[in-house]
Amino acid sequence: MGVSGSIAAYKTPELARLLVRAGAEVRAVTTAAARQFVTPMTLQAVTGHEVREALFDRAHEAAMGHIELARWAERILIAPASAGFIERLAQGRADDLLSTLCLASDAPRLLAPAMNRRMWADEAVRDNVARLRARGVRILGPASGSLACGDEGPGRMLEPEELVEALAEDFAPPSWRGRRVLITAGPTHEAIDPVRYIANRSSGRMGFAIAEAVRQRGGEVTLVAGPVTLDTPVGVTRVDVESARQMYEAVMSRARQQDVFIATAAVADYRPLRVARQKIKKTEGDLSLELTANPDILRAVAGLPDGPFTLGFAAETTRLEAHAREKLRAKRLDAIAANQVGGERGGFACDENALTVIWPGGRCDLPMQSKQRLAYRLLDVLEPLLNEKDSTETA
Ligand code: PMT
Repeated sequence: MGVSGSIAAYKTPELARLLVRAGAEVRAVTTAAARQFVTPMTLQAVTGHEVREALFDRAHEAAMGHIELARWAERILIAPASAGFIERLAQGRADDLLSTLCLASDAPRLLAPAMNRRMWADEAVRDNVARLRARGVRILGPASGSLACGDEGPGRMLEPEELVEALAEDFAPPSWRGRRVLITAGPTHEAIDPVRYIANRSSGRMGFAIAEAVRQRGGEVTLVAGPVTLDTPVGVTRVDVESARQMYEAVMSRARQQDVFIATAAVADYRPLRVARQKIKKTEGDLSLELTANPDILRAVAGLPDGPFTLGFAAETTRLEAHAREKLRAKRLDAIAANQVGGERGGFACDENALTVIWPGGRCDLPMQSKQRLAYRLLDVLEPLLNEKDSTETA
């Protein structure tokens, strides 16, 4: 467990305690800055091992050298990962024990960033994170909420329980290996004229979280994404589209080769019948747009003979379960995940969500939690349904 300099370091004794309780052997390494926020004595007490900081330490090198420590670790979790540490890691620097260990180890690395929201949004930080992600480093969070500096927004380190779960997931058997999974995510943009479009509030986060979770469990994922500003999860094949009709083409040309189709995209049901070639000029009075129906992608996939297992999503503002059941029946789906939208928490464009998963033989409520965590719980619900479908098909 690497601890770098951020106020969130005060949570690391609890993190270490939970990891030890879950059966892990934990050795903590801090940067010099981390010791401003958490004492080595506390970390030593919970891990049962002396906490390391210095790269050049004769006593420690004689006992367990830094290369030996790098080889010993099966995972390296950096929590919290400060903007400064993320930069050092992205540059491949080896100027303290923790950064050197990261370079010297073959162990998968997981990073839990924690910083002020403006720092997290800064282009340099975004670049560094993207570089690390591209090298296979798993980025856990950050969550949104009130930050230690008084700001509100993304930048909070994930809670220790969530980090323990993410780490456990890293050791979980690849239960989706051999499954090809097609996922749609994000909104669609339906052009009105060259500068305007009809859209909705979907950010794509739910679909991207599912794509990452499936990949993490060994599945082969193709993600058809509407216009979103999210990084592609490592190992996922991404196809970018803009409109519902483009999404339809991208999905239908691939659906027959898939085992599972998960439709999280908020596809526009209608598009303007005519797209103006030039920007529509403002005139006195009102303007009417004539809309025409878009193809229903999910219905089309569910109707394919020998098509994939289909999981639809239902975004509802009222009578959640009744509307979802109606969609399950009308579109002839294998399962549907219903979420309440338009409320204070959950649904569109936020980090959290809650789902009610319904299938012909049952239902399951997944309570409000981060979309990353929720994605794994959703996979837990789907796994027996997929196995059941597999066994009826081979019988
Ligand atoms: O993207 P986020 O900000 O993370 O938000 C996540 C979400 C709220 C968008 C997501 O959880 C969700 O609910 N997605 C489905 C939204 C939606 O369009 O629901 P619907 O009830 O209108 O559609 C039902 C299903 O049919 C959906 O699976 C949808 O992808 C699919 N559909 C709808 C219309 C259409 N023309 N083609 C489709 O495939």
